[in-house]
Amino acid sequence: MKVLVVGSGGREHALAWRLAQSPRVQTVYVAPGNGGTALDPALKNLPLAKIDELADFAAAEKIALTVVGPEVPLAAGIVDLFRARGLRIFGPTKAAAQLESSKAFAKEFMQRHGIPTALYASFTDAAEAHAHVEKHGAPIVIKADGLAAGKGVVVATTLAEAHAAIDDMLGTNTLGVAHVGGQARVVIEEFMEGEEASFIVASDGANVVALATSQDHKRIGEGDTGPNTGGMGAYSPAPVVTPNVHARVMQEIVQPTIAGMAREGTPFTGFLYAGLMIDAQGRPRTVEFNCRLGDPEAQVLLARLKSDLFDLLAHGADGTLDRAELQWDRRVALGVVMAAAGYPAKPRAGDAISGVPAATEDLQVFHAGTALKDGQLVTSGGRVLCVTALGDSVRIAQQRALAAVRGIRFAGAQWRNDIGHRAIRH
Ligand code: AMP
Ligand code: GLY
Repeated sequence: MKVLVVGSGGREHALAWRLAQSPRVQTVYVAPGNGGTALDPALKNLPLAKIDELADFAAAEKIALTVVGPEVPLAAGIVDLFRARGLRIFGPTKAAAQLESSKAFAKEFMQRHGIPTALYASFTDAAEAHAHVEKHGAPIVIKADGLAAGKGVVVATTLAEAHAAIDDMLGTNTLGVAHVGGQARVVIEEFMEGEEASFIVASDGANVVALATSQDHKRIGEGDTGPNTGGMGAYSPAPVVTPNVHARVMQEIVQPTIAGMAREGTPFTGFLYAGLMIDAQGRPRTVEFNCRLGDPEAQVLLARLKSDLFDLLAHGADGTLDRAELQWDRRVALGVVMAAAGYPAKPRAGDAISGVPAATEDLQVFHAGTALKDGQLVTSGGRVLCVTALGDSVRIAQQRALAAVRGIRFAGAQWRNDIGHRAIRH
């Protein structure tokens, strides 16, 4: 069978790599893919990005299954289009993808269904937003409504920061957020204390299968400092998600979300990612929903997935997820992202990359912002590589990943040496 992976990041490289190992899969296309998927003889890059071109290709080539990595094509309705044309695809419809594409939609949905999350208010008027912040004080969280590649959130520790974030998001928009319906809007939230974890499930609209737990590191700097990024590294499992927390998340967050979306006529099919904040009492609350696998969470999850990924995705697309069985490697997987010079503000492209080690049983380098230019691997995006290792403990997996990172060279490379630090302290 032929399968198609839509996207170009590390998450999509990991999806394609795992799919290529399925006994039922003959060819894996990645559209548009990156330098790493171009170099891998098991994968074929496809220079297409428009969703109607992808549907034409899937129809002409008799693609057995398409899976979508990033949120942008999902929010543009790729799943609706494929289904209308009778093409099998795993992902949420445009309506269901609003859980990620509109923070206001997600917050109102959670409120309607009693799903635990931070108190919030949403504003289009700057004066009202400023007054709200004055009334509630800092710390407070300001979020741009719309897709912002993980960067449209300011956790303001002072009132001055909060006011500046409002002025930016409702005015100059230096973050370049894609506004919902052309209207700039901010969501202002209560600051939640606790430890974060990523809780990702697959759903066929009715049945749900939880993937292994994971945690990413969103800040650029060691000790979780500096600006937010798309994610500088991740590890799985996340020990903060104890069996008790796991049960509460399924019961209080995941099941009501899947049931609520179905009841409202927009059943959620695809990967649903709940970003969690877990407080000292083990009470989980939702920070955000994403309508897709996380990146770099996908890289560490797929490094641990032992059962057939094609099987999982096909059951998800066919409405038979109750028959899917997942097996995970008992070891820890840990991924260290190597980012380009200037990331996250202004990543530089075109730096030559060398020293990427060959994959072994416990080490895999997933590519993200890389391209092949006249046969030379060069940087082409903010997050360049995710060096992912398996190990019997977090520390061992971390050391194995970092040893590989130190052998990889490109000018201005940035990475964190402390990925997994919270799990090491546990
Ligand atoms: P989001 O894009 O909504 O996931 O937000 C990005 C990051 O900002 C999260 O991973 C948290 O670290 C932080 N954050 C967002 N909302 C809150 C909140 N209400 N309280 C505390 N931290 C938050
Ligand atoms: N790693 C966080 C995300 O994919 O949004």
